[in-house]
Amino acid sequence: MPIVKLLCGLDRRLFLFMLFILTLVFLPGCAGVEKEGNPLVPTESSLYRDSRRSPSERAADLLGYMNLDEKIGQMIQIDRQFLKSDEHITTYGLGSLLSGGGSVPKDNSPEGWADMIDSYQRRALETRLAIPLLYGIDAVHGNNNLRGATIFPHNIGLGAGNNPKLVEEIGKATALESVAIGVNWNFSPSVAIPKDIRWGRTYEGFSEDPQIVAALGTALVRGMQGAGGLSQPDQGLSLSSTLMATLKHFIGDGGTLGGRDQGDVPLPIEQVMELFVLPYEKGIAAGAGSVMATYNSIRGTKVHGSRRLLTTELRTNLGFEGLLVSDWAAIKQLPGSPTQQLIQGVNAGIDMLMVPDDYHDTSIRLRAAVLDNAISMERIDQAVFRILEAKFALGLFENPFAHRQYFDRIGSQDHRSLARQAVRESVVMLKNENQILPLVDSDLTILLAGSRAHDIGSQSGGWTLTWQGFEGNLIPGTTIKDALIHRSSQTGLRIIYSPDGTFHDPGIDPDLILVVVGEEPYAEMMGDSEDLTLPVNDREVFQRASSLNAPVITIVFSGRPVIIPEILENSAGVLAAWLPGSEGAGVIDVLFGDVPVTGTLPFTWPKGVQYLPLQFGVDDDPATQPPGVLFPRGFGLTYTEERD
Ligand code: GLC
Repeated sequence: MPIVKLLCGLDRRLFLFMLFILTLVFLPGCAGVEKEGNPLVPTESSLYRDSRRSPSERAADLLGYMNLDEKIGQMIQIDRQFLKSDEHITTYGLGSLLSGGGSVPKDNSPEGWADMIDSYQRRALETRLAIPLLYGIDAVHGNNNLRGATIFPHNIGLGAGNNPKLVEEIGKATALESVAIGVNWNFSPSVAIPKDIRWGRTYEGFSEDPQIVAALGTALVRGMQGAGGLSQPDQGLSLSSTLMATLKHFIGDGGTLGGRDQGDVPLPIEQVMELFVLPYEKGIAAGAGSVMATYNSIRGTKVHGSRRLLTTELRTNLGFEGLLVSDWAAIKQLPGSPTQQLIQGVNAGIDMLMVPDDYHDTSIRLRAAVLDNAISMERIDQAVFRILEAKFALGLFENPFAHRQYFDRIGSQDHRSLARQAVRESVVMLKNENQILPLVDSDLTILLAGSRAHDIGSQSGGWTLTWQGFEGNLIPGTTIKDALIHRSSQTGLRIIYSPDGTFHDPGIDPDLILVVVGEEPYAEMMGDSEDLTLPVNDREVFQRASSLNAPVITIVFSGRPVIIPEILENSAGVLAAWLPGSEGAGVIDVLFGDVPVTGTLPFTWPKGVQYLPLQFGVDDDPATQPPGVLFPRGFGLTYTEERD
């Protein structure tokens, strides 16, 4: 078949790219360089400088001016904490920086962040071709690294609310609170489908139901990016209010044996794709600009080294054309020497290497691999083309700096109200004996028990201010206690707070005991659990408080269903509140019936860990549930139901 006809039959962007390669190969000395040749110098009228041209045209043109070192630099992403000198951004021509969980500037304020990231961008603009940086962050429930940002419920709570329109609004708000400080790439949404809730990342998943994950993951992509994806950025990505989303982690992160983080999925690839692909199909169709590869292996093969998965499945079968980034130091888990690991990962299809530290060695090893033809120049050019295309689509060549005009949106009242609404919709009522709920707050004395009732860190969970999260009140927001005290100032409600659940005042007889318990904050493998029980301290608080002579209502903060038989047995009412984030008042709104209780379980709730992983029922009909199910997915009591 004549080469032209072959080329014309290709997708436009691929045609452009192939044309560029052919130019390189057949017309030496034209645009572009040999591996070691002297690069051509662009002019003011070079095509890539014309913002009216498409991202793919601009990327193909700019690529032609780059030498090997410049291309290799673009493929390297490091955490800013590992920079030995800021000028290395320039000398190594780094393509991207990130702030991993807790990698924050000394001045953790919008100004501190914006000044830091803008200074990095200025270093990048000092390179020969002045290529700006992609700056990535895990803003997985709001811009959670930034003190003062709105912290939304983690994905498990959004799954319980199951409201795509609201989640899209959360995506918009998260994007605004991120681009304001100079972030232009968010490693979110996780579209994991956790199959075993012993996994420490269960709460980063929306649900065990692929349909819910696909709907909410896509909504978050739309909210963060707008419409149009990389190919029509003027509808979304090139706006100052949007950033690039990341579907993660491709593929099978929620399906490991025993829910072990970064473990092995013991299934054939065909079945893994069947179980986990739906959110990627929908997210790619929504224009997600990037995908992050997963740590786990499938039948012993690490996904980061699998060309079958990262190229054949992701590119050929799913049609993904955006940027594929490796996970944090995941390449180093591949077999072989560091150079062999890089060769495997890049040849499998990784475009951007989240190293995240030794950029010097990585650049040396990558260059050697290309000069030895262990990685082809075509593969390097394909990776760099995608990186440049994302940068052009984001409008970074026109303006790479923080959009400080959105500073006033950070932690704004409208965003906090949105978060509070998400919290309201996330609460699932598991028990409501004798219709004790909703509470009526006139002339009611509540003993509020448990330190987590006044602990914004516990109600936010991992990925908050630091990687693992924290306990205590280090960020603004409202705790359960704050919300109750506020309410008592306006009604006949009286609150007695007892962090350890003890109470000895004979002069006061509480009408009700409200106990707040929960898991300690955690992230990733630190949250893997064999028993899914609450910390001893929380169980002791409950025992002390529930031994008093008054009905008990329990609020549970957790990143997944937990095994709490004594709580379910000895409480008249139980609310699963998941990890609501900074606006804990939303839980109190439900408790007092200001709003209906509408949340439903996004995960099946087991009777015990001995039944895991549950082969969940094909629907929510109790008759089809396998043994070991305490509450089926979709379960959630309502006041109307109880009132009848
Ligand atoms: C972490 C996580 C990934 C995150 C990345 C950068 O290890 O696996 O979800 O985006 O590193 O923080």
